[in-house]
Amino acid sequence: MIELERVTKIFPGSEIPAVDSVSLTVPNGEICILIGSSGCGKTTLMRMMNRLEPITSGTIKIDGENILQKDVIDLRRHVGYAIQQIGLFPHMTVYENIATVPKLLGWDKKRIDERVDELLELVKMPAETFRGRYPRELSGGQAQRIGVLRSMATDPPLMLMDEPFGAIDPINRETLQDEFLKIQAKLKKTIVFVTHDIHEAIKMGDKVALLDAGRLIQYGTPEELLTYPKNQFVKDFVGADRSLKRLDLLKVKDAMLTDPVHCHADQSSEKVLEQMLSDGLNYLLVLDEEDRIKGYVNVDMLRGHKGVVGDVVHPMTITVGPDQNLKDALSKMLSFDLGIVVAVDDDEKVQGILNTRTMVSVVGETYDERGGHWGKITTGGKII
Ligand SMILES: Nc1ncnc2c1ncn2[C@@H]1O[C@H](COP(=O)(O)OP(=O)(O)O)[C@@H](O)[C@H]1O
Ligand SMILES: [Mg+2]
Repeated sequence: MIELERVTKIFPGSEIPAVDSVSLTVPNGEICILIGSSGCGKTTLMRMMNRLEPITSGTIKIDGENILQKDVIDLRRHVGYAIQQIGLFPHMTVYENIATVPKLLGWDKKRIDERVDELLELVKMPAETFRGRYPRELSGGQAQRIGVLRSMATDPPLMLMDEPFGAIDPINRETLQDEFLKIQAKLKKTIVFVTHDIHEAIKMGDKVALLDAGRLIQYGTPEELLTYPKNQFVKDFVGADRSLKRLDLLKVKDAMLTDPVHCHADQSSEKVLEQMLSDGLNYLLVLDEEDRIKGYVNVDMLRGHKGVVGDVVHPMTITVGPDQNLKDALSKMLSFDLGIVVAVDDDEKVQGILNTRTMVSVVGETYDERGGHWGKITTGGKII
């Protein structure tokens, strides 16, 4: 747990505080996002937490102990620090970069080897392939991952991350954020995370602290900031599209219709077509014998076909996971012209379906009827 009490920073020679009497508590295992426009004091506030910046007044406690009472080397060992300019050492391999701090701490080689492999595993970068690579042989996203791993090498319970994904293009950024959240779900670190991107804040934060000119304007869950912005500043900051942003907060499993109408690949095309016509379905999901997604058929594909549905099925290349957020699901749905997206688990087993109608009922705006091609009844299991 990190507790800040009236923390203030006035840089020498400056009249105005860069951080002005900020009080907040970050409970263990939570991600606290510091957000605000450039120059509002995010980095300064964070750097005070591991004493990279002296505190002018106020106190910072970690697990109940004033950080000024801690040995500074010990403190930094306890606190991982990752910054936007990843600063991987260019002349060192991935292995050597990650191993920097463990080496300083005198870990033996076996322990370091195991830790490096374990960390690379965590971000799905096979150790055999990446251990010996140099930073110039990595993509931007991979380099950033290594930067994050390096800050985690000694498994610090507390992590400070200053715009760790700031330099990454939007697509890789989403992927990294998702990976990061998956890792966090397992490791449950206490994390202070700086960003100036409100989407990132809403997606990543258990709590969000909005700063302006060094002052803490509002501190709460993303939902609280979106639903009950404290004043006009917060409203403007979170944006007029507040209701859309709620899509970042909700998960596919919160909105999906379970047990969607479907048929199986080994069923006769003729019979399935007959049933679709009588039920008024234009499209239908096709599952295999284990209830994994095979794809979909439409009435045109089945018309006149004599074999089984599996012979003509069109693969479903775009799916979502039940734990993805609705915004990602919506963008997938829009990139896929059927007005639906299917939720599958890690084994490709179908968990549910989302259509435009369910999405819209979540955000509460008007909708088109594309999702309706799948029939009015979108749940109800197997059709025949
Ligand atoms: N070392 C420094 N000396 C003097 N002023 C600084 C220093 N570092 C930051 N500042 C000032 O403190 C304020 C907050 O900066 P910073 O914490 O970097 O903001 P943010 O990370 O939110 O962009 C800014 O006005 C900045 O100019
Ligand atoms: Mg900054």
